[in-house]
Amino acid sequence: MRTPVVIGNWKMHGTVAEARVLAGAIRDAIRRPRGVQVVVCPPFTALAAVAEVLAGSPIQLGAQTCHHEPAGAHTGEISAPMLADLGCRWVLVGHSERRKEIGESDEVINLKLRAAMAHGLTPVLCVGETAEERRQGFTFTTVEGQLRAGLAGVTAAQMEKVVLAYEPVWAIGTGVNATPTQAGEVHGYLRGLLSELASKEAAQSVRILYGGSVKPENVDTLVAEPEIDGALVGGASLNAPGFVAIVRKAARAGTAPKE
Ligand code: PGA
Repeated sequence: MRTPVVIGNWKMHGTVAEARVLAGAIRDAIRRPRGVQVVVCPPFTALAAVAEVLAGSPIQLGAQTCHHEPAGAHTGEISAPMLADLGCRWVLVGHSERRKEIGESDEVINLKLRAAMAHGLTPVLCVGETAEERRQGFTFTTVEGQLRAGLAGVTAAQMEKVVLAYEPVWAIGTGVNATPTQAGEVHGYLRGLLSELASKEAAQSVRILYGGSVKPENVDTLVAEPEIDGALVGGASLNAPGFVAIVRKAARAGTAPKE
């Protein structure tokens, strides 16, 4: 059985003091998570402070992106070994906001993913179609292209350690989540591709999270879907009680066997 993962993506929110308060509240509420892995991804500026707050806690630290080179003349960038040095264990790669706003290509995302793995971080590869792509019937072709390019050059053994996040762009920050059925069919499709790229066994062990307007009110039905192994949460992760409620509900799905 795959242990569900719940990741809070704080995006560009909060001062260091606010991040400490939020991380402290989550830490105090989730002392011994059973059946779920919890990760928070604060902005870079708050990573060191949150690492301190979470010291000794089972809640792990992640970053929202990284550069693909370990060091060098890349003004404004942060590398995977720098994140590992701060105590990060996870890093998001290919979030749709970065694809769109920064223009990150599938090729660069692949380099980031490989750099993350080379430095011991678990990459969370984000894929997802726009509303227009879905309308035109390109959902599967879009996510397939993003998955194949994102995992290029990654060995079958390494693939088992990657976490995927299906985040339909039209669901991010809109309040309109994909239905469990819509997400489940894309997750199933991605898992089928992983079997082809790695092996059936490897594909069965990869966690595929859903992201896009996940809230305490809709997380139960999403994580009850057999193909959904947790959630990548944006807006709702900035509110400690809400995030904790999401974690608890995902944990219940993690301890109760699905169909
Ligand atoms: P949202 O964001 O939960 O605010 O929709 C999800 C994400 O972008 O990871």
